[in-house]
Amino acid sequence: MAREKIFVTREHIIPEAIKYLAEHHDVDVWDERSMPPRDVLLKKAAECAGMLTEITDIVDKELLEQTSTLRVVANRAVGMDNIDIAEATSHGVLVANTPGVLHESCADFTFGLMLSLARNIAYGDRQIRAGAWKVFDQIPYVGTDVYDATLGIIGMGLIGTAVARRATAFNMKIIYYSRTRKPELEESLGIEWRPDMDAIFKEADYVSLHMPLTVETEYMVSSRELGLMKPTSFLINTTRGRTVDPKALYEAVANKSIAGAALDVTDPEPIGLDDPLLTLPNVLISPHIASASSATIRKMGQMAAANIMAALEGNPMPSCVNPEAVERR
Ligand code: DGY
Repeated sequence: MAREKIFVTREHIIPEAIKYLAEHHDVDVWDERSMPPRDVLLKKAAECAGMLTEITDIVDKELLEQTSTLRVVANRAVGMDNIDIAEATSHGVLVANTPGVLHESCADFTFGLMLSLARNIAYGDRQIRAGAWKVFDQIPYVGTDVYDATLGIIGMGLIGTAVARRATAFNMKIIYYSRTRKPELEESLGIEWRPDMDAIFKEADYVSLHMPLTVETEYMVSSRELGLMKPTSFLINTTRGRTVDPKALYEAVANKSIAGAALDVTDPEPIGLDDPLLTLPNVLISPHIASASSATIRKMGQMAAANIMAALEGNPMPSCVNPEAVERR
């Protein structure tokens, strides 16, 4: 097979995948830790056959219109909200993502956030470092049990399902809302479907978001939805920051209409140091790392590289979201 040009937008994240690609193709990498500037991304897109991207690299109409060489964009992520898929399809560019390799890591992390928020683990650590542990006094750190509580999952894909599986070990009642009902999971995990999302916000002690960011889910969780939650309930967001209206969330936590929130994703990212959410002790924020275990990052890199290899060879790709793009070339 002829060697093709591939641009990888971050070198340090997936060195093994880059090495593998470089055995077969001419690989150009952006070797800084920050994302390539827009002009670099546009220039590379205009000369490459494949790009291996991160979620901050915007692949939009402008970029796609400027390239006649690009045949595949492989995101090292399951989410693809940085890519205009319809536009890519119309330009004959295949788009790939990495489902099936990160859901267990994300589910572990979701549970970590939930436990840490409910039981004040990160808060306690913050207080100790600030010099606030002077006497034995548990009262400022009294939390809420996760065990036996009701977990509401919105979006029952692979990650939502992996979270539900963990929740069974905590004896949680699990309710879910998903575009497609999953009778086999209801049967095997004993989870209960709710036909509308409002029921999840009303009933759950912990609402965990696992739907992708789309036009329909953008700012889907706002004052109305947060207003449905109990004052004792928590919101966990590990999907995309833009699914939750940050101002509404601030109001809901500050006014104690919900008990707190744990966010692995924010709007914007990175969150500004002056963001009011950071003033709230019962808001726990991590820097978008739910999938970031070393094994999972490696698998995501391998899958993204395999997607590129297959696309350039005209073989079936491990995960292509628009196979019909081929006919548009
Ligand atoms: C994903 O896979 O979409 C994560 O958010 C980035 O690792």
